[in-house]
Amino acid sequence: TKKGFIFDLDGVIVDTAKYHFLAWKKLAKSVGVDFTKIQNEQLKGVSRKNSLEKILEWGNKTLSEEEFNRLMALKNEDYLSYVENMKEDEILPDVPKVLNYLMSKEQPLALGSASKNAHTILDKVNLLEKFDAIVDGNGVKKGKPDPEVFLNAAKLLKLNPDDCIVFEDAKAGVEAANAANMISIGIGEKSVLDEADYVFKDFTEISLEFLDDIMSNKIS
Ligand code: G6P
Ligand code: MG
Repeated sequence: TKKGFIFDLDGVIVDTAKYHFLAWKKLAKSVGVDFTKIQNEQLKGVSRKNSLEKILEWGNKTLSEEEFNRLMALKNEDYLSYVENMKEDEILPDVPKVLNYLMSKEQPLALGSASKNAHTILDKVNLLEKFDAIVDGNGVKKGKPDPEVFLNAAKLLKLNPDDCIVFEDAKAGVEAANAANMISIGIGEKSVLDEADYVFKDFTEISLEFLDDIMSNKIS
């Protein structure tokens, strides 16, 4: 059977959290707010706007709308200076193997990301052509944990949500996949992603047999 395999981008296909961290850290510092790695973890899967809101909240800062928008633009400018240098070698281990296997089985593939930079990043790492549908931060009204991003991806793939599988590294993303009635596969720590149907440390732990079992409805 045809299943829709939906991939989150940041933390699943590439590790951009380190660049988000550097850019947010610098920005937070410019307004006198400290920003830690632990806080950065909590921004995984969270939109740019909601991320800045949280950082200001943590730092007890309020800004005018104008200043808020200026800072969002600055952060993205800085973030893109890192993205600029990304190449194929930043694709996480065994991601191409899984994508290529699913493509060889003619399974529809989609991207479901909160990032407004998803297109740029996929292009940088040369994965743009692998996906039949791309839903990113530009195409949704409500961010994860709302299921909108994944439901839109299913719609574009012309598949029912319960025939879709989501790979996610963020708690909010797993919640979004569950809310969409999809199989959720967490990529990362079991303790963080405890709501996922399955959790793997990374794609090297996912066997082709496991993917076969999904396609043959042994896993649902
Ligand atoms: C992903 C990342 C988040 C990031 C969000 C928006 O979900 O995990 O850390 O804030 O995308 O990214 P953007 O590229 O639009 O700023
Ligand atoms: Mg992610």
